[in-house]
Amino acid sequence: MCGIFGAVSKSEIQGSLISGLSKLEYRGYDSAGISIITGRQKIKRVRCVGKVKNLKRILNSSRSSGFCGIAHTRWATHGQPILKNSHPHNSSKVSIVHNGIIENSDELKVYLKKKNYKFTSDTDSEVIAHLFSYYAERSSDGVEAMKRVAKKLNGSFAIAAICERWPDHLLAACNGSPLLIGTKKGSNFISSDIHALSETTDTYVPLQDNEIVELNSTDYKIYNFTGRKISRKQTKAKKQTSEINKNGYKHFMQKEIYEQQEIISNAIKHQIGKKGLLPNIFGPNSDKLLLKTKHIHFVACGTSYNAALIAKYWIEEITDIVCTAEIASEYRYRTVNVPPGTLFVAISQSGETADTIYSLKKAKNRNYCSILSICNVPESSITRLSDLVYLTHAGPEISVASTKAFTSQLIALLFMTMVLSRTSKNKTIEKTILKQVKALPAIIKKTFLLEKEIKKIAKNFKNKKHTLFLGRGVSYPIALEAALKLKEITYIHAEGYAAGELKHGPLALVDKNLPVIGLMPDNNLVNQVLSNLAEVRARQGLVYIFTNKKLSSSKTDKTNVINMPSCGHFVSPLVYVIPMQLLSYYVAIEKKTNIDQPRNLAKSVTVE
Ligand code: F6R
Repeated sequence: MCGIFGAVSKSEIQGSLISGLSKLEYRGYDSAGISIITGRQKIKRVRCVGKVKNLKRILNSSRSSGFCGIAHTRWATHGQPILKNSHPHNSSKVSIVHNGIIENSDELKVYLKKKNYKFTSDTDSEVIAHLFSYYAERSSDGVEAMKRVAKKLNGSFAIAAICERWPDHLLAACNGSPLLIGTKKGSNFISSDIHALSETTDTYVPLQDNEIVELNSTDYKIYNFTGRKISRKQTKAKKQTSEINKNGYKHFMQKEIYEQQEIISNAIKHQIGKKGLLPNIFGPNSDKLLLKTKHIHFVACGTSYNAALIAKYWIEEITDIVCTAEIASEYRYRTVNVPPGTLFVAISQSGETADTIYSLKKAKNRNYCSILSICNVPESSITRLSDLVYLTHAGPEISVASTKAFTSQLIALLFMTMVLSRTSKNKTIEKTILKQVKALPAIIKKTFLLEKEIKKIAKNFKNKKHTLFLGRGVSYPIALEAALKLKEITYIHAEGYAAGELKHGPLALVDKNLPVIGLMPDNNLVNQVLSNLAEVRARQGLVYIFTNKKLSSSKTDKTNVINMPSCGHFVSPLVYVIPMQLLSYYVAIEKKTNIDQPRNLAKSVTVE
């Protein structure tokens, strides 16, 4: 799961390679590297462990000048994040970068070793370098060589390659991992995403599975793996408006937590008119489609999956529509029944998550009435593949731990619930939700006033090894999300549980050292959650309750109660997730972890 960038130009390319690569760091930051064909038509490779800033430092003292080159930022899959496993990988006169996983790399290694190729890394990618070298020596041109390489590979891949035999040509291939061509007068580029091209050009051409492209500084040609030439129109990218800086905050995560109030206000401003929700906000004729929908299959990963779970609770509470929320890595491999009238909904911040993309591709071949995506990144792989798109307009989310993307997905899903509620017998429910939604920005503002208190509580978690989060109903997915945030950025082991499930096993973990956090909006489940927390207290667990219910002192004995502002039932997940995000953030501050780029993770998970 890595970022690929390549350039071939009439002018020097080192600067654009580095600038493109910096924008792809969200896909992994274990190592970075570039290979450039120099004036003497030799490949010069520079690699380093860690981030692009380390690579920049090396290049400052040893510039690589040339007009054709490739670059890579890595998230380690095969082999530790050490120098020998960093990309580009070289073999004789070629250099390659790869994103994806080569499933038959072991067999290919055996095949290539018999041909005397020596392996110097533990990666699956190195087989591509040797294969390309082997076929480059035996082919009349780069396209022929790349075609023969691609035919040998099983798995998902996006590859960019250069060869000293064809010093003015960049070659690339893709199958299952995204790749785009960027074009500009006198330069052509290859990139894992559109964002990395934004400083260079707004004109791009997406590649599809099983395609090869050959680029020089003035032209590009696309072929499929059988060698047939493909013509495809260029597309103009929409301008990204949001600035990428911390705006005075210490971390991107902190800034993004605080942006949530404005993002929600904007969603309300843009999607709600005088008479309520504007028509067809999910795309052309989407209201009609939604009102005919009988089933919804939500598919997503991680935080986006937690948003899907909440949508299931909301929609099934007020309509007869049957919803499932499923983790994309499960959905993509299992047998799925698709009853007539089923809508497929993919939820993704990045629009580049491999498992979600595969699920969506699978869904396109099934009997769904439509494929809708809820996504933050326009012109991403997921939006390009969908029939209908709702853009969450949360702006670039830089922190690996997702915060504002989650609440922007939730507000979209609540809007969807409002449209679907028109099928309900309860004709006032849409108005009820609308009222709650309109009140939301002010409630979120009040929730931020808890920051000081949360900062104090966070100190108690500094030396904890484990934490449990409990919730019922719509608060159960918030418990999952809170646990995900805490483990992601503080490395404390955390679990989210449906509060009623505690006594079916996890209660065995409770002792005087275990913090247990109850999420308890004032609703019909308060008494049940209180009973579950009493069971924890009886075993000396350290109970924290986040609630807007006024509790009698008998219920709060030896309990930390954090008084939340009151909010409506439907919007409670958007309110209760905020102190959970702040808690993780301040525990991470206490533990001095790398908040925006936690260890072992990447912002976008582009391998399965
Ligand atoms: C957690 C987090 C991840 C993502 C997941 C899906 O903070 O960010 O769990 O939610 O990788 O990513 P998207 O939404 O981009 O498909």
